[in-house]
Amino acid sequence: MQATDIPSDTTIKLTVNGAPQAITVDVRTSLLDMLRERLHLTGTKKGCDHGQCGACTVHVNGRRVNSCLTLAVMHDGDEITTIEGLGTPTTCIPCKRHSLPATDTSAAIARQARSCRPWRCSRNPAVPTTRR
Ligand code: FES
Repeated sequence: MQATDIPSDTTIKLTVNGAPQAITVDVRTSLLDMLRERLHLTGTKKGCDHGQCGACTVHVNGRRVNSCLTLAVMHDGDEITTIEGLGTPTTCIPCKRHSLPATDTSAAIARQARSCRPWRCSRNPAVPTTRR
């Protein structure tokens, strides 16, 4: 078998913000790129793309994950929640509602990190947080 015989695309099924999805992705696609480029969920930001800033934070099965560090194909069958899935336009979660409007990239990154971290803690208080 040659390297060219290995399929580069695969179809995964997952739930994103409560909606079932079946998406064909290149096996090298990060979860972050799939969310932003295929599902157009641009509230999840690409900051450092190296797992250091937290701008790409999403929840996978209730656990906080840096989506830039994980491949989309690793999440077949998982439940993903992005910042778009937190609250509703009329009933935002408190930490999202009190954030300032993001007028530039750094503000958007900070809002993403601030919104996802405390929400996860309040939703699953028994799950310890990881600190870096
Ligand atoms: S983009 Fe910075 S941690 Fe993922």
